[in-house]
Amino acid sequence: MKQMFMLLVSLHLALMTMAQENKPTVLVLIHSDNGGTYELAKEVAKGIEAEQGAVAIIKQVKASDNPKLRSIPLVTVDELDTYDGIAFGSPVYFGNISTAMSDFLSKTVDLWTNHRLEGMPAMVFMSAGSGAGNELAVQAFWNTLAVHGMILVSNGIRGAEQIDRDIPQGNTVLGTTSLASHKGVERPSPSERLVAEMQGRNFSKVAAAMKGVRTVTTKKTSEGNQQQMDINAILQKKNIVLPELPKAVGNYELFSRSGNLIFINQVALKDGKIFNAGKLGIDVSEEQVKEATRVTMLNVLAILRDALGGDLNRVEKCVQLIGAFNTLETYTQHAALMNAASDLTVDIFGENGKHTRNTSGAASLPLGSSVSIQAIFEVQ
Ligand SMILES: Cc1cc2nc3c(=O)[nH]c(=O)nc-3n(C[C@H](O)[C@H](O)[C@H](O)COP(=O)(O)O)c2cc1C
Repeated sequence: MKQMFMLLVSLHLALMTMAQENKPTVLVLIHSDNGGTYELAKEVAKGIEAEQGAVAIIKQVKASDNPKLRSIPLVTVDELDTYDGIAFGSPVYFGNISTAMSDFLSKTVDLWTNHRLEGMPAMVFMSAGSGAGNELAVQAFWNTLAVHGMILVSNGIRGAEQIDRDIPQGNTVLGTTSLASHKGVERPSPSERLVAEMQGRNFSKVAAAMKGVRTVTTKKTSEGNQQQMDINAILQKKNIVLPELPKAVGNYELFSRSGNLIFINQVALKDGKIFNAGKLGIDVSEEQVKEATRVTMLNVLAILRDALGGDLNRVEKCVQLIGAFNTLETYTQHAALMNAASDLTVDIFGENGKHTRNTSGAASLPLGSSVSIQAIFEVQ
């Protein structure tokens, strides 16, 4: 009975972890002159977030004087590849995308040539006037996104059963539009809003399913044009499994965030017990302390992932690692022990994993651990 209970608890925890890992963060990226596209964007975002745990962030490509749009944050080209999917929205201009959206997309050449959006899901919605050329316009939008190698998610005939057929509606199989210039009906119409929300829901599912599948994203870091793979793909490829979160065993938090810095301190806890406990040279060998150091660093990374809402791609840099080892007074090879943590960090984060470091010996460490690590990471 007890075993069954433990099995159920483990299953529950595993499912919770999987759900956490698959929460997509989707950028809803718009240009809007009069607010029609923004109204659709809010419905799309609502649909995205209706899928449990997903996050939708609305941003615009150009600052606006329109009081309805003024407070929407501006996007940067550099951040585009940090999302799990992008929902693009713009007004229809002559059966095409709007000038401001077109200008913004023309700045993404660097992303294109570095394949940084390749394999990322994308969807399109648009606000039209009469609706002349609305489907052409969505398709024209797709052209640019296809050149980026994005996965274009169409909308099919979603919502066809529910929409009000007594008035013209902007739904198209490629994506929702709104027919703003039809008089006497508030636009987006309730049906257009519904289809936009449904499109967001569907897109969220696709983004969740694709999260972590994209193997190569070349992400620009604050330090320049640097190639970086998706961290989930790296963990998978290198067979690195992060443990369940350790429990705090005192009056402290597992991590503390101040601005863009995250601070984490850990000992060699594994499955609720100290792994390879004791003093080096008396109870444990150098090899055992190195193993304990790796276990400790894996705990640090599991906590870091949790602190970042499940997304280690948000790590900008490992700033510093400090290691203390339970050694005899005469011991001097602390650096070799600490390499177990440093190597793991660089193995996962590449150049961004390189850090400054301090190591020292200690007469004793909490719970008899042979090692303790303090880590500082800079994050987005
Ligand atoms: C230069 C320009 C071209 C336009 N071309 C079209 C068009 O081809 N088809 C259409 O239905 N509406 C067209 N419109 C109307 C806009 O798509 C419409 O006003 C839209 O709702 C604006 O979106 P917003 O409210 O997000 O600014 C055009 C508007 C402008 C300014």
